[in-house]
Amino acid sequence: MSELEKEIHKRRTFAIISHPDAGKTTLTEKLLLFGGAIHVAGAVKSNKIKKTATSDWMEIEKQRGISVATSVMGFDYDGYKINILDTPGHQDFAEDTYRTLTAVDSVIIVVDSAKGVETQTRKLMEVCRMRRTPVMIFVNKMDRDGRDPFELLDELEEELKIGVCPLSWPIDSGQRFKGVYNIFHEKLDLYTPSKQTVTESVEFKDISSPELESHIGDNLAAKLREDIELIEGVYPSLDIDVYLKGEVAPVFFGSALNNFGVRELLDCFVQIAPSPRPVEAIERIVKPEEPNFTGFIFKIHANMDPNHRSCIAFVKICSGKFERNVNYKHIRLNRMLKFSSPTAFMAQKKETVDEAFAGDIVGLPDTGNFKIGDTLTAGEDLHFKGLPSFSPEMFKYIENADPMKSKQLQKGIDQLMDEGVAQLFTNQFNGRKIIGTVGQLQFEVIQYRLLHEYGAQCKWEPINLFKACWIESDDKDQLEDFKKRKSQYMACDKEGRDVFLADSNYVLNMAQQDYKDIKFHFTSEF
Ligand code: G4P
Repeated sequence: MSELEKEIHKRRTFAIISHPDAGKTTLTEKLLLFGGAIHVAGAVKSNKIKKTATSDWMEIEKQRGISVATSVMGFDYDGYKINILDTPGHQDFAEDTYRTLTAVDSVIIVVDSAKGVETQTRKLMEVCRMRRTPVMIFVNKMDRDGRDPFELLDELEEELKIGVCPLSWPIDSGQRFKGVYNIFHEKLDLYTPSKQTVTESVEFKDISSPELESHIGDNLAAKLREDIELIEGVYPSLDIDVYLKGEVAPVFFGSALNNFGVRELLDCFVQIAPSPRPVEAIERIVKPEEPNFTGFIFKIHANMDPNHRSCIAFVKICSGKFERNVNYKHIRLNRMLKFSSPTAFMAQKKETVDEAFAGDIVGLPDTGNFKIGDTLTAGEDLHFKGLPSFSPEMFKYIENADPMKSKQLQKGIDQLMDEGVAQLFTNQFNGRKIIGTVGQLQFEVIQYRLLHEYGAQCKWEPINLFKACWIESDDKDQLEDFKKRKSQYMACDKEGRDVFLADSNYVLNMAQQDYKDIKFHFTSEF
């Protein structure tokens, strides 16, 4: 194996996703502790994005600064290079999370054992399914009274539409939680409630051995044997290929807060999770081991300082080796660019790097050259497939509130949309601009940033819309007829594609019934 291949194969780039409060931050922090990337608990926590729905501008500004540092957390563990990509906790920034998911090779989903699958988890899983991202599940908070684990597995399968394969199994829960039987490593992990302890583990290949009783007592031993027998009967044993195809999710049980089950999750993760996977470009599939550098921009982070409108563009390296001060081709601009201070992210520090490999994320200081989705290569003309936009859930007209600053407003809107803050649709009938978001907070962020970074003032006007659908059809006449009939509700997205703005579910259903040959898509990638 070449040096390049060795570097690439030891990389594990993933994101942890969950519904707010399930324990994503706590789990991230414990993983960083194991990796020696931080030394005290609480270091990540203190940077946590505040989950209040009320908007506190100082807080948002502060978070934007902090989240550059915590955007990617890299560390070495057991010969592997781990890159955890952070996703925003606030659900109003879900679009940001969707995009981050395009830059990972796998995902760990955290579920609260008492709450089971919640809305946010369901939505994020849809994105993983679309991209066939391999998924592992950590059922957290076993130290609290939770639901019956079999019931939970059923719910995971049903709600997340993925097969499950338990790799550990809880022994009771809540105050009586005794630990787990670790099916993957064939050992008994015994639980002591404490935030820092190392788990006490006993090798236990054969749970029919009477020794089990001495550890967990007669009743629990009998119950565990029964459970494991049932698991073996009902669930298939782990098939790594099926996991890698994103069809089955290995499940672990534990308590992130008590540091229980986290190392076991990590040990299994590094062993079975994929190293960087091939990435589809329009022209061809790019393999990570190819020597030439290729990558795409999946996130742009605006600078906090309004006097310097510089940004950091985050590149996911898809193949080869990226080097500092080497010329790379920016495909959309058809220009060679080189980067003198690319940054890599180790734990919570960012530092200038000379080289990085497929799987890694580098931050490129930028003054407006990049848009989300841009491709960089060593010279080859490639276009990585666009990152999907999803139909927003909230819509408002954006209007200029200061006629002297219409240029600034235009520029501000363009740049914020390139950064992926929200989606812009232009009504084809009256030319009015509509901003679509996934949450109220984004409207406030846009208004604030337009004023502070561009000196432009906007105001919002209500528009009653239910969904934006990208439409296409092989039947050109039908498409034209539809567009004519619905002309007041037709818009263009920022790439100029046709979008139908449905004002109610009823209208959408009727349109789908009446125009059978038109496809209505709820994401821009189809
Ligand atoms: P998030 O990033 O997914 O939103 O969740 P986060 O880690 O912040 O966890 C949410 C709450 O759940 C936190 O409590 C955290 O301490 C708690 N928690 C995480 N893992 C466990 C666990 O295994 N068991 C129990 N019992 N609780 C857990 P909080 O009160 O909101 O915050 P804090 O005051 O503890 O910081």
